[in-house]
Amino acid sequence: MERTFLLYEEKGPVAIVTLNRPDKLNAINREVFHQLRDQFREIGENPAIRVAILTGSGAKAFAAGADIAELATLTPVEARELSALGQSVMDGIARQPKPVIAAVNGYALGGGLELALCCHFRIASRNARLGVPEVTLGVIPGYAATQRLPRLVGLGRALEMILTGLPLNAEEAFQAGLVNRVVDPEALLPMCLEIAGAIAARAPVAVRFALEAVQRGLDGTLEEGSRLEQALFGLLWTTEDMREGTSAFLQKRPPAFKGR
Ligand code: COA
Repeated sequence: MERTFLLYEEKGPVAIVTLNRPDKLNAINREVFHQLRDQFREIGENPAIRVAILTGSGAKAFAAGADIAELATLTPVEARELSALGQSVMDGIARQPKPVIAAVNGYALGGGLELALCCHFRIASRNARLGVPEVTLGVIPGYAATQRLPRLVGLGRALEMILTGLPLNAEEAFQAGLVNRVVDPEALLPMCLEIAGAIAARAPVAVRFALEAVQRGLDGTLEEGSRLEQALFGLLWTTEDMREGTSAFLQKRPPAFKGR
């Protein structure tokens, strides 16, 4: 089925997914969630793709939030169902096996910031504004910003953002650890492609296990996470790429990884 609200492109092993409702600043409605879920499921299952970049179309917004026109029409039960849908789609992005980089090319507000938060890290353009303005609408974040934001930027910063609804500019977001780098708008995609290319050049199974150790580790205690790390560490000794990576280092040549 055609994905009317997404653009999709592959550059070698890197998938680029672009939210495409520029006239609504890429506001996220139910249909956008369905399309994102299907798109990231395909990316997760496509062995040729190693990394994904998620961005927004147009010069102004990554995504200006949940579609407020849709929110305004919901019953309480529908609002809860929409929250569950959004959370499960975003959880699916966070837990699928390929790293996802958010290229935050402008406003990332409310559900837009939550979408950037479920990605594995974020790079922002200088014109980005990142915030959770839900309390200005009489609601609270519904796609896990109350959980992911404090884990990323700490309790005090997250609470200030959530309780005031005021956005951070790109530099403030960088200082808070919300985004890893800030670049000029025209440098955003090239920078993300460069980082994605670096990841794609590494041993694929090791990248997948590293992501899993970090992601799954966050769900439990330090001890549980460390045990998972041990198991995945040991498992890598079954891969050809582990032999190749260590031999290549000792023979002073670049490794040729096969992803097995
Ligand atoms: N939901 C639905 N439509 C949205 C939207 C959203 N979250 N954000 C922007 N839009 C729409 C606007 O209604 C407008 O549509 P129209 O041209 O049909 O009237 C269009 O996108 C352009 O937005 P506009 O407000 O005119 O742009 P701006 O440059 O003046 O302001 C923002 C940009 C981001 C500051 C402003 O759009 C905004 O505050 N959006 C809502 C942010 C928000 O509260 N998000 C959290 C939702 S939970």
